[in-house]
Amino acid sequence: EKGTYPHYMLKEIDEQPSVVRKIIQAYENEQGELAIDPAIAEALHEADRLYIIAAGTSYHAGLVGKEYFEKIARIPVEVHISSEFGYNMPLLSEKPLFIFITQSGETADSRQVLVKIKELGYPTLTITNVPGSTLSREADYTMLLHAGPEIAVASTKAYVAQVAVLAIAAYVEAKSQGIAVNFDLKKELAIVANAIQSIVDSKEVFEFASKDYLSTTRNAFFIGRNMDYCVSVEGALKLKEISYIQAEGFAGGELKHGTIALIEEGTPVIALVTQKSVSLNIRGNVKEVTARGANPCIISMEGMEQEGDAIVLPQVHPLLTPLMSVVPLQLISYYAALYRGCDVDKPRNLAKSVTVE
Ligand code: F6R
Repeated sequence: EKGTYPHYMLKEIDEQPSVVRKIIQAYENEQGELAIDPAIAEALHEADRLYIIAAGTSYHAGLVGKEYFEKIARIPVEVHISSEFGYNMPLLSEKPLFIFITQSGETADSRQVLVKIKELGYPTLTITNVPGSTLSREADYTMLLHAGPEIAVASTKAYVAQVAVLAIAAYVEAKSQGIAVNFDLKKELAIVANAIQSIVDSKEVFEFASKDYLSTTRNAFFIGRNMDYCVSVEGALKLKEISYIQAEGFAGGELKHGTIALIEEGTPVIALVTQKSVSLNIRGNVKEVTARGANPCIISMEGMEQEGDAIVLPQVHPLLTPLMSVVPLQLISYYAALYRGCDVDKPRNLAKSVTVE
């Protein structure tokens, strides 16, 4: 039930702090430490390479997951779009583990890959929000998202849940391998939950998101580097699907290699600045587009904010920023869609679970 909310999407955006808290609880052992099913830990341990297979928003969560498994657990990862992978399989490593990320657990494009991989005899893990779903039943292992039912077609809380569960899997695997991890993920996730809460409650974010920034534009760009790039593609997808504004997520440095030709007077460019190591580079990219007439919106994080930034997010662990920085992008898309009179919960041409290939 959406209760007093005008739309499921807004309700589900607001639920994200409690989803993160619920995931911490769900993946806690009796000693209060983060833990995963020992059989899954073993499968991760055995693998020489992880293949993440997913579509849409779940694919975007997979891009963040790659960062986690490689940076925290030091396992090489490939992330693939399911509709491509099944019909054009890359050269596989000797001991691959396949991870299917799917909110619904019913996506036909992802399932056709699972069927083929099972025929080849490789181990499979499904990360899903729906216990008993097709991909959960058919895979060797399942990790649940614990996000509660997601009704709005545009995925919000499931993305945050996917990223959180991927972080937990990578972290627990790193610890079990004796890799020195210099942060306490449980504590950092609790900080993230509070940060998301402060964003959904923030007057400043609401005022920016609900103003007319995207009310009449034909197109918009989302740019970022590193982790922020992973989130910028998700921000663009969210905007496209519910507001019908043509949007593109871009690696900040890549713009000048062609796409910058599309920047005109007033083109909105939303830039994420949460990664210290590249914050000056991305600000440089913002300058490049602003000099060509773009109307920039900078979303930065405390500690690297500058005068004129549209939104300054609270500080969280640098690897966990996607869980938080996606939230203002969801809100910007939501209000842009409202502004343009779109059906937020049921965008045209889209279904909640895509059961055809
Ligand atoms: C975007 C969206 C879709 C789904 C995609 C995969 O908001 O909802 O892009 O993410 O269809 O769906 P699942 O995760 O159910 O496999």
